[in-house]
Amino acid sequence: KDGKIMNFSEHIRVIADFPKEGISYKDITTLLKEGGVYRAAVNEMVERIKPWKPDVIVGPEARGFLLGAPVAYALGIGFVPVRKPGKLPSQTISETYALEYGSDTLEVHADAIHSGERIVIVDDLLATGGTMSATANLITKIGAEVAGMGFLIELTFLKGRQKLVDYPIFSLVEYQE
Ligand code: PRP
Ligand code: MG
Repeated sequence: KDGKIMNFSEHIRVIADFPKEGISYKDITTLLKEGGVYRAAVNEMVERIKPWKPDVIVGPEARGFLLGAPVAYALGIGFVPVRKPGKLPSQTISETYALEYGSDTLEVHADAIHSGERIVIVDDLLATGGTMSATANLITKIGAEVAGMGFLIELTFLKGRQKLVDYPIFSLVEYQE
């Protein structure tokens, strides 16, 4: 423990109208560069994830790496990256999901996760839940179990949880707008 409960939202910079008008962007770079705050956020995620007894942490490119990898390191378990298409060199499994305009695809190495394993997925932000439901689908296709999902930030007004009702979820900071 770091001796006190941190108010993580104090360290997240909110930028109006980025990347386009009407969007209130939550910038975690200000939190990441404060070593004690970054560590406290990772430690808090670790404490909440431990009871789920994961075998592996999965994190989606790119910002999911920034939190998922240190969580895996702290737990002494493996980290498996989920990546955008064409980045992973060996055989992959892929999942395509709908966006507001068009679609996106995520991939994972087919041999990185095994049937019966308990997987916890970590990302920086839960918005619409598209990234997470696609990532969860990759894991369940392989026959592994999604034991939970952890986020630094949740944009509750986008109702991502409604897409993820099958899974235990936590977030450290919630935004209503
Ligand atoms: C952002 C964020 C989450 C995702 C959340 O990633 O890091 O992964 O969006 O949105 P959703 O719940 O609506 O899917 P982004 O695709 O911008 O890429 P990055 O992590 O590589 O910056
Ligand atoms: Mg992301």
